[in-house]
Formats: sequence, structure tokens, C-alpha cells
Amino acid sequence: MDVFLTGASGYIGGAVAQRLIRDKHTIRGLTRTPGVVDALAAAGIEPVVGDLDDTALLEREARRADAVINTANSDHRGAVETFIAALRGSGKVLVHTSGTSVIGDDAQGQSASGTVFDDSIAFSPGNHPIRRARYDVERTVVDAGDTGLRTVVLCNSLIYGNGTGPRPQTVLIPPLVNQALSSGIVRVVGRGLNRWSTVHLDDMTDLYRLTLTEPAAAGFYFVEGGEDASFAEIGQAIARRLGLGPVEPWDLDSAGAAWGEGFARYALGTNSRVRATRARALGWRPSRPSVTDWIERDMPLP
Ligand SMILES: NC(=O)c1ccc[n+]([C@@H]2O[C@H](COP(=O)([O-])OP(=O)(O)OC[C@H]3O[C@@H](n4cnc5c(N)ncnc54)[C@H](OP(=O)(O)O)[C@@H]3O)[C@@H](O)[C@H]2O)c1
Repeated sequence: MDVFLTGASGYIGGAVAQRLIRDKHTIRGLTRTPGVVDALAAAGIEPVVGDLDDTALLEREARRADAVINTANSDHRGAVETFIAALRGSGKVLVHTSGTSVIGDDAQGQSASGTVFDDSIAFSPGNHPIRRARYDVERTVVDAGDTGLRTVVLCNSLIYGNGTGPRPQTVLIPPLVNQALSSGIVRVVGRGLNRWSTVHLDDMTDLYRLTLTEPAAAGFYFVEGGEDASFAEIGQAIARRLGLGPVEPWDLDSAGAAWGEGFARYALGTNSRVRATRARALGWRPSRPSVTDWIERDMPLP
């Protein structure tokens, strides 16, 4: 297939591109950054310089491709609407990337939630307006599946694993590592009792490939590899990897000062537990090592 991929220089997009190139798909990859064009070309991606706000460019690329995969930004409604309008009635595929912070709670690290959201059952997003906006973008993509294109939303949990390309780092773990390296103490928000589902980058890319090519794939999918972890457990793995002492709790104000209030409270401090029932029904079988194994054995250090 000829695929137009946004976020081609990023953690998710870079890995998705490599997985698809292995299967002989051709990738035209969007980037805003002329400085990464050579790296994309060297990785086998045809670079397209532009922005998600460039409607004419997105329309043109969507129309010339067999499929669009959007990994640049889960919250950019304009890009999603442009892709849907360009692909409507074509029978082509749109795969959109989202994230499970959409169901995050306000635990502030002080408790583990027993609630596990299952993608075979309808759910409501958390109360925060950003979560509601992200959920509405997801619904827009899913609902467009009735208008002559096949649409897929992949709602990723905490992704770990070694990226390739210009931006090889995931979102949630490096801030904990960097804080630990600079202070000599691993810290987590609150007591770190909050839990997230997790997925290895290579298992995740297998699901992008499967939903791209499998005609039965449509609608909303949570993406998790079978294990969840508390931030205290993630912190303990970081401490073992770095040879540091016990993980220390951090009050929200101190964590917010280090990591930003919103990121500390609405990402690092939340519970976000999901079950990928629909992906498994498609035949997806995640098999890679757990997040704590990866941290202890494979995680690159700055
Ligand atoms: N990593 C995770 O664990 C995770 C989990 C769930 C959901 N998500 C969500 O998935 C999305 C991608 O995550 P990621 O970890 O792959 O992020 P990332 O490494 O920062 O990659 C995103 C890429 O998209 C490009 N980009 C960003 N804004 C753009 C714009 N306005 N126009 C064109 N290109 C743009 C950037 O490339 P250039 O600068 O080269 O243009 C960047 O390399 C984010 O919305 C994130 O919240 C991530």
C-alpha cells in the first residue's frame, strides 16, 4: 500500500513506518522540520514537509495514498476532519492514534483503581475538558466509518520500547528517569500506587500493520499488551537500573514543579487501565517483555 503517515519523525510514527516498510509498503511521511528530512529519507520514508494545519497538503496526500495513518497529534481535530473529507466515499483506510489518558482519573498517585475499561463496552471519558475533546475526536473518526471509508482508532496505553528515528523516546518514563538522574532519588507522584496498562512499541506496531491491512478492522481499539504496572513498580525498576535507593513519594506541588502541574496530575498521577478485547479478537497477540523488564535490561539511558 502507499501510506501517508503523519508524525513520521516521532516515537510512534517512526516505529510504525519501519514496521510497514518491512512489509514493502511505501511511506510518505509528514514532518514540519526540514532538519529531519535526510534522516527520514535514509530510513526509507519519502519526506513531505508541512504541518497538520496545511489543509491543501493533507488533502492532496490523502487522495494520492491508499491509506492515511495519523500519529502526529491525538488532539488535532482539524487534521482529522480534513482526512475524513478527503477520503469519504473512497473505500480507503484512516488509522488515527489516540491515548488512554482519555479515561484517566484524579488519583494523584494515592490509590490503584480497580476499574478496567474494555473496548468491547462503551465508556465515558474522564471529566477534564482535554479528555472530552480527545474523546470527541475519537468519536468523529469512528463515526466517519459509515461514510465510505474504513476508520480505525488505536488508543494506546503507556508505550515503552526502543524507538528509532529522530525522536526515539516515549512520553511517560523519560521524565522519571531524568529526575532520578539529576537528584539521585527516584520519585513518583503521590505514593505511585496508580496503575497504567502498557504496551511494547513492537507489539503496538504489529497492531498498526494488522488494522491497516485487515478489512474487518474498524472502530475503536484500546492497545495494551497484557500487563499493567503501578508507577511505584516502574520507579523501582528505574532505581534497580540506575543503582539507586528506594522510590520516594512526592506531593503534587513538588511533582508539578518538576514535571509541570498538568503532566504530573493528569498523566503521571492517574490510573489508566484498559483491556484490548477487540484487537485480540482480530488475532493480535502481544508477546514482548514487560515494561519493568525493558527498563531494567534495554532502556537507553541519556
Ligand atoms: N508515546 C506514548 O506513550 C503515547 C501513548 C498514547 C498516545 N500518544 C499520543 O500520540 C501522539 C504521538 O505521540 P509520540 O509519542 O509519537 O510523539 P512524538 O515523538 O512527539 O512524535 C510526534 C511527531 O509528530 C510531529 N508533529 C507534531 N505536531 C505536528 C503538527 N502540528 N504538524 C505536523 N507534524 C507534527 C512531530 O514531528 P516534526 O517536529 O518533525 O514535525 C513529532 O515527531 C501524541 O498526541 C501523544 O499524546 C502517545
